[in-house]
Amino acid sequence: MSRHTPNLQLDEQGHLLHFLTIDGLRRELLTEILDTAEGFTGVSERTIKKVPLCRGKTVANLFFETSTRTRTTFELAEKRLSADVLNLNISASATSKGETLLDTLRNLEAMHMDMFVVRHADSGAAHFIAQHATPGVGVINAGDGRHAHPTQAMLDMFTIRRHKGEFVGLRVAIVGDILHSRVARSQILALNTLGVSEVRVIAPRTLLPHDARKLGVHVYHDLQEGIRDVDVIIMLRLQRERMQGALLPSEHEYFQLYGLTDERLEAADSEAIVMHPGPINRGVEMDSLVADGPRSVILQQVSYGIAIRMAVISMIIGRQNLQAQA
Ligand code: CP
Repeated sequence: MSRHTPNLQLDEQGHLLHFLTIDGLRRELLTEILDTAEGFTGVSERTIKKVPLCRGKTVANLFFETSTRTRTTFELAEKRLSADVLNLNISASATSKGETLLDTLRNLEAMHMDMFVVRHADSGAAHFIAQHATPGVGVINAGDGRHAHPTQAMLDMFTIRRHKGEFVGLRVAIVGDILHSRVARSQILALNTLGVSEVRVIAPRTLLPHDARKLGVHVYHDLQEGIRDVDVIIMLRLQRERMQGALLPSEHEYFQLYGLTDERLEAADSEAIVMHPGPINRGVEMDSLVADGPRSVILQQVSYGIAIRMAVISMIIGRQNLQAQA
């Protein structure tokens, strides 16, 4: 599947047609997403949690891989924007009888969908759908293989901005299984585009891409050294389902070296926040005292996911509406 087509997601004026990757997006556009999300945070706190921006539009959620947070917050975002929502049950769909992705797409398009939200185990699946979708139909990548998870990265940026204000001057550490993480790739692109001072990655050599430094990061193998004086610590899950062969001796040993505890957290800035995209493996990436402690903003990340997804959906649908009026 084709993966390297970032411009597919922008029209000639630089507006979003699809949201597939952070790669190739300018700081101004990322800031527009964050600012738009800011305006949506209040909707979830209202008695009537709805705005009419996507009334009459139909969004299909195609999750070919498991998800708790992304799938539910996308669905809530779509419903809060008043869209009609279709959740395709993949295990009960014709995909499980051998129908190709393209045939599934064509059949859903025959039902006049306006947008597809796609999670897939194969890197490039969302790009593939965007390349083959009818012009005017938007595609959002909800996580593809090891490649990208752009809305996760944007909700993480939103969380950081809410807590730290500015990106300039921040030191951010990403800890754990960088090699298999689509989240880390998207976060690194977003952090560098938004202008943080320093992005560090901390991992055993077996869980780092061989060309990690080319991503624009400082590489550490020692947790204490890597988190020294940082403002933000992002812990990642060990992605056992994507590992081929024995990359780690044991989860117990991993925790001894890379697990975040209250004691180790003291090396970071005294105001440092702790993040995790979820799902958390307690006692593997971090101790429960940290996950549930005062520095943890993990559940806020989930809440902000609704506002960020509302922002991205409304920006794409808004562009569709302008096009239809032209
Ligand atoms: N963060 C994230 O993508 O979680 P889910 O797999 O539960 O969607």
